[in-house]
Amino acid sequence: MSERMNSETLRKLYLDFFKSKGHAVIPTASLIPENDPTVLFTTAGMHPLVPYLLGEKHPAGDKLTDVQICVRTGDIDEVGDESHCTFFEMLGNWSLGAYFKKESIAYSYEFLTKVLGIDTTKLNVSVFAGDESCPRDNESAEIWKSVGLKDEQIFFLPKENNWWGPAGQTGPCGPDTEMFIDTGKDKCSDDCSPACSCGKYLEIWNNVFMQYFKDSDGKLSPMERKNVDTGMGLERTLCIVNGYKSVYETDLLAFSIKKLEELSGKKYGENEDDTRAMRIIADHTRTATFLLGDVKPLSPSNVDQGYVLRRLIRRAVRYCRVLGIDGSALIELAKLNIEKYKDIYKNIGDNAQRIEDELRMEQEKFDKTIEQGINEFGKVVKHIPSTTIPGKTAFRLYDTFGFPLEMTIELAKEVGFDVDVQGYEEAFKKHQELSKAGAEQKFKGGLADTGEVTARLHTATHLLNAALKIVLNDKTIMQRGSNITPERLRFDFSFPRPMTPEEIQAVEDLVNEEIKKNQDVILEEMSVAEAKAQGAVGVFDSKYGEVVKVYTVGISKEICGGPHAKNTSELGHFKIVKEQSSSAGVRRIKAILENNQ
Ligand code: ALA
Repeated sequence: MSERMNSETLRKLYLDFFKSKGHAVIPTASLIPENDPTVLFTTAGMHPLVPYLLGEKHPAGDKLTDVQICVRTGDIDEVGDESHCTFFEMLGNWSLGAYFKKESIAYSYEFLTKVLGIDTTKLNVSVFAGDESCPRDNESAEIWKSVGLKDEQIFFLPKENNWWGPAGQTGPCGPDTEMFIDTGKDKCSDDCSPACSCGKYLEIWNNVFMQYFKDSDGKLSPMERKNVDTGMGLERTLCIVNGYKSVYETDLLAFSIKKLEELSGKKYGENEDDTRAMRIIADHTRTATFLLGDVKPLSPSNVDQGYVLRRLIRRAVRYCRVLGIDGSALIELAKLNIEKYKDIYKNIGDNAQRIEDELRMEQEKFDKTIEQGINEFGKVVKHIPSTTIPGKTAFRLYDTFGFPLEMTIELAKEVGFDVDVQGYEEAFKKHQELSKAGAEQKFKGGLADTGEVTARLHTATHLLNAALKIVLNDKTIMQRGSNITPERLRFDFSFPRPMTPEEIQAVEDLVNEEIKKNQDVILEEMSVAEAKAQGAVGVFDSKYGEVVKVYTVGISKEICGGPHAKNTSELGHFKIVKEQSSSAGVRRIKAILENNQ
């Protein structure tokens, strides 16, 4: 496409295309899920359709299409890069038993190549490679070939790449086929495939063949009816068809960036910190606008969805300070967002006044204490003897100055400190009998999950921490942060340079060697002095004489609160999926456990 395509055109092309194929256009649903208490927000187009995917009759028929507004906060730390957003629109089409792989793939191929004009040779697809629970999807591969793709354009990938759902802890799910555009960049290695995050392949669409139901024990059973669920990110697709470098160049976000340039007198793209701040403010304000203006309007609060909203607004206000502008910029941006979206999402126009008022109230409330809080933070940093901010202090910043924990962690990171998160949570629980701590978990992971899957990833994190010190031959390596969701672990550690591919492989191998030894995870309680003497790593700022828990697993010994796997045999295969910079002198690893279901 030579002319630039805007969001209005793409939404219309998509809906018209599926209408022409007999699909009914249905309206978007609320951002607050109806039927699923395990998830805070609507995260995909299929989410509001779960009852129909499970067999209920949909009043509009068995072929549906829509544009669903979605909020995902699991990757909030990544917002500020070129592609992650906490709010996005998902274009989707569904078959409720009406058609399956053949038609679904043919429709996608036709839309991508004929309507969007994407060159067939640039299209690459992945299909499910198969495992013990579900066979290899040769059928989809054959269909892709029949529409014109060559063998080398089709990649068979395992469950962590080619399986989708359920959206919450239980529900419909299945193997998928994903479509990618080859950017023409060189392969980063011989194994480079659409599973790789090097940037050669950009994902554009995902067609899920929903054939299974996952129950609360994690068991998959085949469903009577076979459905299709697809999802195409509006912002990302605009980026791809227009050849933009980032979603902030699309007509859905560019106006916010422009306004921030005007207000700050700074230029987007010139300085890394300012650019990141502009992106965070633009993204978070757009999300807040949609949450405040939802058909079930939210208000900032200290629990669940309301707390996420509060955090988004406060984080945006803090980044206004980085740009040197007043927090009232959020209201300016919200007004522009309301203008942009009010004709498509009527509730945004109807709630315009509410959005502005709530935003102003929250921003003013926070503005009153943020300065004092930041001063207080500066004092704390000067006076504590270690580089870990005690949990009680983090809680005081929350309770007195309204600093969300994640903001304290961010401020700490900027000065090379970390935060005793567990101590914070204990202080939090002690102070408030209510289940507010649940919101912390849900905010970070998208889901509250303290089950076995995360316990195994936690044990793998300990092994990784130990393996890094051994392989990189550096005892001074320190943990700088850890975050676990049911899908993956993320581990930040101090180290001055990128790891080489050989080092990454060696770390992965060492962790897998330890896993294969089928070792028990041993828990002992001992004094801090004893733990130190035994060479345990971890947070040592407990009072002298206090008893701490020490977990030992093979090469690792750490002070930690748990929970952990019982034996390394539960862990499956450990795999590092990403190694990247987190901040100056801090590296970030993301890793998964294959077969960790
Ligand atoms: N539900 C699928 C997704 O979110 C289409 O990718």
